[in-house]
Amino acid sequence: MRILLVASAFNSLTQRVFAELREHGHTLAVHLHGEDDPLRAAVRAFAPELVVAPMLRTALPRDVWSAHTCLIVHPGPLGDRGPSSLDWAIHDGAGRWGVTVLQAGEVMDGGDVWATAHLTVPPVGKSDLYRNEVSDAALRAVRLAVERFASGRFRPRRQAGPQWPVTERTRPYLRQPVRRIDWAADPTATVLRRLRAADSQPGVLDELLDGEWYLHGGHPEDELRGEPGELLATRAGAVCRATVDGAVWLPELRERRRPDGPATFKLPATLALGSRPSGLPPLPELPEVPAPLELPGQRRTWTDLRYREDGPVGFLRFSFPGGAMSTEHCRRLLAAYRYACARPTGVLVLGGGRDFFSNGIHLNVIEAAADASAESWANINAMNDLVEAVLTTTDRLVVAALGGNAAAGGAMLALAADEVWCRDGAVLNPHYRLMGLHGSEYWTYTLPRRVGPAMAARLTGQALPVTAARAERAGLVDRVVTAAPGAFPAEVARLAGQLATAQGLRRRIGEKKAARERDEAHRPLADHRAAELALMRRDFAPGAPYHALRSAFVCKTPAVGTPPHLAGEHTRWTAPG
Ligand code: COA
Repeated sequence: MRILLVASAFNSLTQRVFAELREHGHTLAVHLHGEDDPLRAAVRAFAPELVVAPMLRTALPRDVWSAHTCLIVHPGPLGDRGPSSLDWAIHDGAGRWGVTVLQAGEVMDGGDVWATAHLTVPPVGKSDLYRNEVSDAALRAVRLAVERFASGRFRPRRQAGPQWPVTERTRPYLRQPVRRIDWAADPTATVLRRLRAADSQPGVLDELLDGEWYLHGGHPEDELRGEPGELLATRAGAVCRATVDGAVWLPELRERRRPDGPATFKLPATLALGSRPSGLPPLPELPEVPAPLELPGQRRTWTDLRYREDGPVGFLRFSFPGGAMSTEHCRRLLAAYRYACARPTGVLVLGGGRDFFSNGIHLNVIEAAADASAESWANINAMNDLVEAVLTTTDRLVVAALGGNAAAGGAMLALAADEVWCRDGAVLNPHYRLMGLHGSEYWTYTLPRRVGPAMAARLTGQALPVTAARAERAGLVDRVVTAAPGAFPAEVARLAGQLATAQGLRRRIGEKKAARERDEAHRPLADHRAAELALMRRDFAPGAPYHALRSAFVCKTPAVGTPPHLAGEHTRWTAPG
């Protein structure tokens, strides 16, 4: 079928719908819909049989929805209406939620129902929920709705009449006064719900020290205590703040934008507070977790790095907001990786948690640096040091376990491992071009080695998202793990246990060592790094396009029109000949 995807941004859900429908053999075109844009011309030019809108902030024009069947993905259950569905679900503490595919019509979210799917709401931030449970449910509902439409026999259900099972509930945009935290009165559970309902956007507006900040992220702390609202400690860039009955960790802050002031963006909390004229107040800096990086099972606190062992398997879990890895993140992860490599294990699993694996260097931290070129250089080198450590691990097998999406250098970090396991719902973007970068992370070694030079050129040149299934067929991924987001860590642990106790593990490790030595003799890793970095130095030079592209990304400057790499028709992806 010819399907036109109309979206406000090519965000994670739109990428997944795009990649999966394409995988199912449909011919797709993408149109990014802003105000006064040429949607009608795009519809005329493409002549779609069906229009699907995975994420739309503005209404479709009447003449478009009256001439074509337009299906809107609404992140709410039957009867739910309004622009802040997920925010309200978390704010109210809903345990179950839904996604509904509705036909566009006169009433916003009031159109006929083509499909609906349910989900369980875990205690995570809104954007994590959106990229995982909501995305899985949305794909189930979209696939069903597209099949139903293609059958030509299905009659969508009207949201009215005696057969309609629910009462309609329209809720308004969730505004900051409703999100507000009363530190002197709200218990930790309420504070966490407020923070999670606003994460990652728009954050909860609050006063902190002498400024106004949006608070991002929220994790419980079970030991630290203090005056409600008081800052208690820092850890790995996050600050811990007391509530009436406990404390919470806040990993990131964004300064409130002043009228006519420049755009503000999220930063690690200590970096953001440290930029105030009076600097960061003196606070105790807590270690990541008590050495050796392992946390007793019953403790509730926040850390972005964790290591644990289960017999012959080591698990090095990391989780950085937005998947972004600053110089500091890379160095800390490398230190933890070295620690893990000193342990007597046969298999080491990297990642394995939920949500983003990695999205490469930290563009926000770079944007905030006094010298963005120098910080970019430091960051890519720190990332390369980490990737090099993985590539040169020859005494055990390393598995990269991607519970969520990975992009750019973060996708290439995964490829350094011996095996890449990917949750079935994850979307990969193994390319750098859209950020004006050639890229490093030894991708010129790892990517062609896995997929061949023609596919490597295609993946990096076309700059399109790929599903886990597609990535497996291309050789980018070794195993697709079919698991719900919350079940992924346990499934990875089970599979890693099997791998570590399988016959022939020692032989495989020996073969891998020999292969590394052969590759090194053929072309040293240092040579790949030097060649990649020579091009990156040019990309990072003051005035190069990367700087404007990065600023636009970090400051969320809306794109004008549909980007060229998305324009045109996209048919099923076949392997290059
Ligand atoms: N640095 C800083 N922040 C990053 C980031 C990076 N490398 N990659 C993602 N983020 C942030 C986004 O700004 C966004 O922040 P928000 O939650 O405040 O909106 C959040 O992570 C989620 O990303 P988003 O773009 O909303 O997710 P998506 O799933 O729709 O898109 C990507 C995923 C990876 C395609 C997109 O984020 C991207 O292009 N990232 C940059 C990748 C890159 O070029 N890295 C540098 C080269 S190594």
